[in-house]
Amino acid sequence: PAAAAPPVPADPYDRTALTVIGAGQMGAGIAQVAAATAAFDAVHVADGRPGAAAAAVAAIGDRLDRRVAGGKMTAAAAGTAKGLLAALDGVDAGAIGAASSVVIEAITEDAGAKADLFRRLGDAAPPTTLLASNTSSISITRLAAAAAVGGHPGRVIGLHFFHPVPVMRVVELIPALTSTPSAVAAGRGVAAALGKTPAVVADGPGFVANRLLMPYINEAVGVLAAGAASRNDIDAVMVGGTGVPMGPLALADFIGLDTCVSIMRVLEEGLGGGYKPAPLLVAHVAAGWVGVKAGRGFYTYE
Ligand code: CAA
Repeated sequence: PAAAAPPVPADPYDRTALTVIGAGQMGAGIAQVAAATAAFDAVHVADGRPGAAAAAVAAIGDRLDRRVAGGKMTAAAAGTAKGLLAALDGVDAGAIGAASSVVIEAITEDAGAKADLFRRLGDAAPPTTLLASNTSSISITRLAAAAAVGGHPGRVIGLHFFHPVPVMRVVELIPALTSTPSAVAAGRGVAAALGKTPAVVADGPGFVANRLLMPYINEAVGVLAAGAASRNDIDAVMVGGTGVPMGPLALADFIGLDTCVSIMRVLEEGLGGGYKPAPLLVAHVAAGWVGVKAGRGFYTYE
């Protein structure tokens, strides 16, 4: 006779401690929201680059102070949020796994680097640790397969946040083919605790947001390269004519042109040649002009 399927635990995941791996603009934003909502008893920020996590925690503190100065947050709430935050230098998968009930990975958009991290986390973290990726386009099932080294691919899900995380209200919740119902339920719980509405999206290239947004941004770069309109006019047409808060070229700078190229390559690999990154976009990345974070992209920044 066939063995009975193992029972699905009701909700084995809790929200004692969150570790966000990657102290870039997304990781810092997620950590800020986790601290400000006090959704976890502790919020760790880990990064392999020496000093990066501490710098991110300091920058979050400054942003919280500005909110207090602007009358958008009480000093007490900001104090509580700061008290929850801690910086970890280096990415020690064993220590992070042992110390976290939920891990959100937000490192650079590189499939190999993410798979390697999930392999290490899968091996080191107890099965009760929920492992989520903030990838904006890479297959969650592939990351779950990497994490299956530890024998528990079911606790891996995608939780894709939007920049700026404190402002944007939705997250894409992406179950892998192998995710258990309890892991998906836990993902919903984490999103809700962070004040976000989860939209459940299938594990396909670019999910929903970037499958729609990146070809639009890429086409805007193509229009610029073709000389059909100036940078300012392209953005002005879309802001003034369609009501978006930022034109596509300003938005590309805001997201990061390196991230835009990485996502276009994932779309191209998964969906075909029509999704090739625009050569001018690739050239900006080659020049190091990757947008706001570099001080220069299609625009220049102070
Ligand atoms: N980091 C953190 N917070 C930021 C921020 C940043 N870089 N930029 C703005 N904010 C916050 C401000 O602190 C302010 O918050 P408070 O109200 O709490 O003070 C709030 O945003 C509004 O800021 P401003 O009033 O100064 O500016 P604004 O009204 O011009 O709005 C904006 C700024 C919210 C960024 C707006 O221009 C916008 O919505 N732009 C579109 C952003 C967008 O499309 N994001 C999604 C990108 S796609 C993505 O992230 C997914 C992916 O995988 C690539």
